Amino acid sequence: WPLHAPLIDAINRLKVERDAVILAHNYMTADIFHTVGDIMGDSLKLAQEAAKTEARVIVQAGVHFMAETAKILSPEKTVLIPDERAGCSLAASITGANVGAIREAYPDYPIVTYVNTSAEVKAYSDICCTSSNAVQVVEAIAAEWNTDTVILIPDEYLAKNVASQTGIRILTWKGSCEVHEQFTVEDIEALRAAHPEAMIITHPECPPDVLKAADFAGSTGAMAAYVKDHQPQTAILITECSMSDNVAVENPGVNFVKPCNLCPHMKRITLRGIYEALRDMKHEVHVDPLIAERAKASVDAMLALPS
Ligand code: 13P
Ligand code: SF4
Repeated sequence: WPLHAPLIDAINRLKVERDAVILAHNYMTADIFHTVGDIMGDSLKLAQEAAKTEARVIVQAGVHFMAETAKILSPEKTVLIPDERAGCSLAASITGANVGAIREAYPDYPIVTYVNTSAEVKAYSDICCTSSNAVQVVEAIAAEWNTDTVILIPDEYLAKNVASQTGIRILTWKGSCEVHEQFTVEDIEALRAAHPEAMIITHPECPPDVLKAADFAGSTGAMAAYVKDHQPQTAILITECSMSDNVAVENPGVNFVKPCNLCPHMKRITLRGIYEALRDMKHEVHVDPLIAERAKASVDAMLALPS
């Protein structure tokens, strides 16, 4: 990426000057992911790393809820997000007040919230989960509360997909990911017909019939690991567009067919934005300390489970 070289050099110099680490989600464009990212991965891995990094500054190359999670876990650190508008349709679908009302209506059932939510929503819940540990978290909290019913919000597809894998009754919310909700079973069937040799791998934020038609479903980290372990002749990743580009770099022997939907929020993060964030120490993410403390209990409960 010759045009990017001066920016990449400047970012890497600023990282040393500022004592900063860049946490890059798997949906970052390849120019970010493979050049300036220090820790790359799915939501769970980025949260784990945010909790243990020794750097003074965390730059979140991802969306706002990820930066908030980093701040909740490391309140003494400066957390920067290169573009404050990098939101998420799931996080926007529910408020803390909504969760408070759910708690009042169903006081006997534990509330699990997906990490793709605001700090306030996390503060109202009992435990968080990501797509890589949702089944494990739901099973653990059901056993702890001795209940056959768990509330898993706000992603209705994730909830349905977890319910089908656990046998636990799950109450949910009407949120969805604007990227993954667009894939249909007809898309999968057409891809299967066109590429019968392909391994079709999808994400649990997709509708349940899409998961049933695919060969494997998992978090973005699990998707990447699945390709690495199986080395299929052809891989089709049913997810955000940058994912295949990033996984392809690490699997040169695999042919990638790339049907995909862009996440407009993830795509707000650019190399230039990261450079300016480090140059000007902007945009700092703040979380009300009271909310942060309660939200941290939910995130810590998740991180305490064996991974
Ligand atoms: P994971 O990386 O945890 O699978 O999450 C996917 C996603 O959509 C994050 O915004
Ligand atoms: Fe949110 Fe979906 Fe974008 Fe992830 S891909 S940030 S879940 S809208």
